[in-house]
Formats: sequence, structure tokens, C-alpha cells
Amino acid sequence: MFDVNKIRNDFPMLQNNPDLIYFDNGATSLKPQCVIDAVTSFYTTHTSNVHRGDYAIAATNDKAYDGTRNIMARFIHCRPDEIVYTYNITHAMNQIACGMAHDFLHAGDTILITEAEHASNVLPWFRLQEEYGMHVAYIPCDNQGNILLEEYKKCFDKYNVKAVSIAEVTNVTGAVQPVKELSAIAHEHGAYMIVDGAQAVPHMQVDVQDLDVDFYAFSAHKMCGPGGVGILYGKKELLEKMRPLLMGGDMNARFNSDGAYILKSSPVKFEAGTPNIEGIIGAGAAAEYLMSIGMEEIHAYEKELRAYFLEKMQKLDNIEIYNPDNVYGPIDFNAKGVFAQDAAGYLASRNIAVRSGNHCAKLLHDIIGTDSTVRASLYFYNTKEEVDRFVEAAKDITLENAVGIFF
Ligand code: ALA
Repeated sequence: MFDVNKIRNDFPMLQNNPDLIYFDNGATSLKPQCVIDAVTSFYTTHTSNVHRGDYAIAATNDKAYDGTRNIMARFIHCRPDEIVYTYNITHAMNQIACGMAHDFLHAGDTILITEAEHASNVLPWFRLQEEYGMHVAYIPCDNQGNILLEEYKKCFDKYNVKAVSIAEVTNVTGAVQPVKELSAIAHEHGAYMIVDGAQAVPHMQVDVQDLDVDFYAFSAHKMCGPGGVGILYGKKELLEKMRPLLMGGDMNARFNSDGAYILKSSPVKFEAGTPNIEGIIGAGAAAEYLMSIGMEEIHAYEKELRAYFLEKMQKLDNIEIYNPDNVYGPIDFNAKGVFAQDAAGYLASRNIAVRSGNHCAKLLHDIIGTDSTVRASLYFYNTKEEVDRFVEAAKDITLENAVGIFF
């Protein structure tokens, strides 16, 4: 039975900051004690490197480190050897783009994205356009970031599409894209399907086999885990074919003075250098924690809480909401006549944490018609009481109250 009050006891940040309303979960999530314990015990009782030490503590860490692959495989439904550790989603997307440039695409091929994407799903493709002669095109969306399916289909007649790369849930407007359908259409046309799951995996059950995507990336820090850990899922045969972005220790089997080298099999061939060991062990603890609560329960609770939040915000005359029809993800708004950063500053003065600006989605203004918004993003430890307090504060965001405020 989902019990938010019980869940809140798991989070020291909430206990230590009883007056804070943390609605910046799209940027990063708070960490439960079990994740903190997993990381700190690495420092206090079993520090070592992995895959390099012939002693008991190192063997324990090898097991925990590689064991996170099994946990992540259960979490998103794939094989453990299809889980690659990266440092974040940006790293994962750059790895995929590198693979696409060298191993999968050719000059003249089109990569489809949307204007609602985060920079990490735009700039790696711009580089392919600039350096390898590929072409980036945009799938038309409605004014809340949702892909227009019929327009998407037309893109395959219009361009030589060989890859589609989109966020499953967009990071500002929370548009939930129909990934399974988009992937089936991409595959019918011989294109690869790549998904940025940053704002999806923390909040809903994701099954990469059911979605039938080729690559899927997500980040531990947005799902109660430590920073500096990304997870890249790839179909085994594609990972085997793809070259690593980074070269160095552990990922090689052998190299000779004549320049010849042999790499290990995937996923290890993508993991050059000493990794974020404690982070990866902590990420495993985070996934276990979420699964112990239940992703379906988390999803249902968040959806209800967001609907409650939206209904209250829509009643405020001073607030303009940019994604009123979306049923998931952040609520994105401005207070009329108030610069987004001033509004966020005012909310901060009431002990409320949100993000303001363009949220790294610098093409989104073409869709929503403004460059700068306030983003309030919830997670499963937020409550209706916090929403009520937020709405009371939002009601007071006016030019007189907000401009020039320091917090
Ligand atoms: N990608 C994170 C966000 O959307 C940082 O805020």
C-alpha cells in the first residue's frame, strides 16, 4: 500500500528540511537512506577499485558493481549484458551518436528529433551533421511538445530517415511520446530507434523489450540514485557492433607496440577507466528501492498528485500554464508579466525549489512560444499539502512581489 508519509521518512533531506518544498525533481531527485548507506559503506568499510584487485574486498565490490547490471536488467526488462554504465545520459547519447557516425549511418542519412529535446539529444546530432554529412530534421509537435503521429509518418517520405532519437517524456512540457508506435514505424523504414528516458524511467515502468527500441538511456540521479551514473541500454547485437567513445583501461583485452589492440566484449568495452563504482552500487540500491515501492504505484500516485496540482494552478488568474493538456511530467508556467527567474526567486523566498529558464531545451521556444518558464516537477515523495502551499505562494507572484527579490 503506497503511503507517502512513510516514504518521506526514508529521505533525510525531507527530515532535515521540514519547511522545504522540493519541486525540482526534473533536475535531480532526493536520495533515500538506503542509497546513502550503499554509497557511504563503500567509503567506510569496503573501498577498492573493481575488475583489478585480487583480494576479498575487491571481489565484494566486483560482485556489487556487476550486480547492478542484473538489477537494472530487471528494472527495465533486458539482459544484464545489455546494460552499459556511463557517467550520465549526455555521455550515453554521445556514445550512441559516435556509434551512429562510424558504425551505423552514412553521409546523407537523416536523424529525426523534435524541438522539445534536451541539449543532450540535440548537440550530439548537430555534430554528426557538421562533421559527418548527416542531416538533422524535426518531427512536428503540437504546442505542448507531443509528436504529431501523421506528420511523423510523413517524415519518412520526405527524408532518408535512418535514426529517430526522442525523449520518452520531454523534460519541460512532460509530453509522453508513444515510443512503441514510433519505434515500430521507424523499424518498418529501416531506421534505428533511440530514446532518452531521463524523465520517464524514474516515474513509470519502462520495458525496453516491449517498446522494442534499439538504444535507451537514463540517469541514476533522477531516480533516487547518486550523481555521475548513466545507464545505456542497447540491443546486444548493436552493442557488439558499436565502437566505444572512450578508450583506456579495463575495456581492452590486449594491445601491442605495433598499435594492434583487441577490445573486450560489450558492455565492458564501453567502460574505459575507473568508473564511478560507489555511484553504480548506489544506483543499484536506488532501483531496488523504487521496485520495492512499485513503479505502477509511483506512477499512479504522481499522476493523481499532478492532476490535483494542475487543477489548483489553473484557477490562478496570474498564472499562465504552457502544458495544461499534458497529464504527466512537470507543470510549466509563468506568472503574467514576471520574468521566470524572478518568479523562481520569489518561490525560493517562500522555501520552494523550482527550476526556471529554458531547462536546456533551447529549441522549445519554437513550440511553446517563450524562451523562459518556471518548471515545477514532482516526485512520489511530494504531497498535496506541499501542492497547497505552492499554490498559495504562486498566487502571490506579482511584479511588485517578485522583481529584484533576493533569497
Ligand atoms: N536535465 C535536467 C533538467 O531537465 C538537468 O533539469
